[in-house]
Amino acid sequence: MVKPEDKDSKTKKSYWENIHQNKALTDSGWYQSIPESSLQLIAASKISKKARIIDVGGGDSLLVDHLLRFGYENITVLDISKQAIKKTKKRLGELAEKVHWICADITSFDSDATFDLWHDRACFHFLTNQQELKLYTQKAVQSISQDGAMIVGTFSKTGPSKCSGLPIKQYDASTLEKLVSGEFEIIENFNSVHMTPSNVKQNYVFCRFKRK
Ligand SMILES: C[S@@+](CC[C@H](N)C(=O)[O-])C[C@H]1O[C@@H](n2cnc3c(N)ncnc32)[C@H](O)[C@@H]1O
Repeated sequence: MVKPEDKDSKTKKSYWENIHQNKALTDSGWYQSIPESSLQLIAASKISKKARIIDVGGGDSLLVDHLLRFGYENITVLDISKQAIKKTKKRLGELAEKVHWICADITSFDSDATFDLWHDRACFHFLTNQQELKLYTQKAVQSISQDGAMIVGTFSKTGPSKCSGLPIKQYDASTLEKLVSGEFEIIENFNSVHMTPSNVKQNYVFCRFKRK
């Protein structure tokens, strides 16, 4: 039997396609009508409205809706699932044309594009092996501009140990910083409690990094 942690990129993709196909966003554990921690850290990074922003593993999150409402003009949403992107585009209607959409596994995303702000909530913690972590951090280092920022929100050390049936890796600010310490330093971090649609509390750690 193939364990979820052994799934390769193709199998991971079909796993997530199935979730996004069969689960309404508002029934998903990660659903937030207002992604407050993310918006707070994006505002704190003081990027311009023209800054190039990427939401990695953005899925069908409403973050993009809020960023558009605040006037950000250069937003990219990347997700492994075509279905997640399709759902988000449908929800946004004509506004979807203002967004760049990329369907890719972030660990094999092949592009020279650079970004001023890299945001990831609840995607990074699904990378459970060293090789995936290495590929992800290499991509972040390569893609984030010289004075760019990175915001990562993951399950904390007191958060859940699984999500959607998949194993995850828990973090605190120092273990997150260690992974990128050669290139990035933490400017701000906090833990926050997310209440799922079925009223379960989940503890997250959020970090805002700046390039050294
Ligand atoms: C728990 S959901 C979080 C969605 C969104 N970031 C939010 O906060 O609502 C995780 C998302 O990451 C996507 N994902 C998982 N592994 C990925 C990978 N390796 N590359 C890109 N996206 C991935 C999934 O399709 C899913 O949309």
